[in-house]
Amino acid sequence: MAVADSLNKRKKMMLWSGIFILLVIVLLPMSGYIVTGLNESQQQSAEPTNPRADTWRQVRQGNEGYTAVTGQEANELIQGSGETWRQVRNGPMATYGSWFLGFVLLVIMAFYIMRGRVELTHPRTGETVERWTLNERRLHWTTAILFILLTITGLSILYGRAVLIPLLGYPGFSLYAVGAKFVHNTLGPVFMIALFAILVKFFRHNFFNKVDLEWFKAYGGMVGDKHPSAGRMNGGEKVWYWALATAGLALCFSGLVLDFPNFGQERQVIQLAHVIHLTTALLLIAFSFGHIYIGTIGTEGALEGMTTGQVDVAWAEQHHDLWLQEMREKNTDSPRSSE
Ligand code: HEM
Repeated sequence: MAVADSLNKRKKMMLWSGIFILLVIVLLPMSGYIVTGLNESQQQSAEPTNPRADTWRQVRQGNEGYTAVTGQEANELIQGSGETWRQVRNGPMATYGSWFLGFVLLVIMAFYIMRGRVELTHPRTGETVERWTLNERRLHWTTAILFILLTITGLSILYGRAVLIPLLGYPGFSLYAVGAKFVHNTLGPVFMIALFAILVKFFRHNFFNKVDLEWFKAYGGMVGDKHPSAGRMNGGEKVWYWALATAGLALCFSGLVLDFPNFGQERQVIQLAHVIHLTTALLLIAFSFGHIYIGTIGTEGALEGMTTGQVDVAWAEQHHDLWLQEMREKNTDSPRSSE
């Protein structure tokens, strides 16, 4: 009996020892959690991950590595914010940009259909007055043509892949895109010089005053039959001028940062410059739609001023009465007969 008892005891001891060892095997690795606590990253690391993916994740987060290569940003294998920039540029900026331009065009078209052209309220007198000198017109058309070429090539760079590849095919678009980029990058700095010159030339005429406030209150004569007074430049032209002086210059300077990347600017600076460039470009393109509309089909007689330099006195009286008065008082260019 005593032998059987001691055998049973031994079996029990072995059983409990086995259970204890098993518990230790299972619980010991988990004791780490008890000591350090469960935090989020540890929870993540508990999930099965590819260790190589972790390495690339760290690289994308901008962790600097060691490299024997010297040079700017040489130790940054992948610039993570570049992908964010690419997604913002190809996503919301391109999409909302096209909606914005389309919306502005639609508003202008709807306005034209509803309002029609702002006609001359008094018949032409046959007498004309010089509104723009030859130099001013040369400067205006140089700036305008450059702006239009930059708009076409710039929008081709932004929307070409979506719009032009289906039309031209890959080889055709590739050829066009190389040309468009070359034209855009070359004419950009030339436009900057022209813009700067036009801003300097018209600077003194573009300060806002009380007359402009009244002009805005009367919607610039675009709505209803009231013709608000204006000096040489009206309130709308002054807004266009200051849009060019602010957004236009930001557009040009950000363009230089993109055009000449060999001045030590880092990629993040280039990405920021690109966002500024695209935003100001879209704003000014939309603005130029309004300017071109008013300067052509929107207003009878406006375009002839910028092409021939002369405007009819009836036009000057209707749109820029204070300027006409000033001209008469100064008698620098008294109205003359066009016959
Ligand atoms: C086809 C395109 C364009 C047309 C038909 C056009 C037409 C005109 C006309 C008719 C005027 C004179 C308005 C008046 O006599 O009061 C004018 C003024 C002006 N335009 Fe244009 N324009 C065009 C494009 C541009 C562009 C792209 C720019 C600049 C990037 C520009 C800048 C100016 C400036 C600065 C003035 C003088 C207004 C001021 O200084 O306040 N134009 N334009």
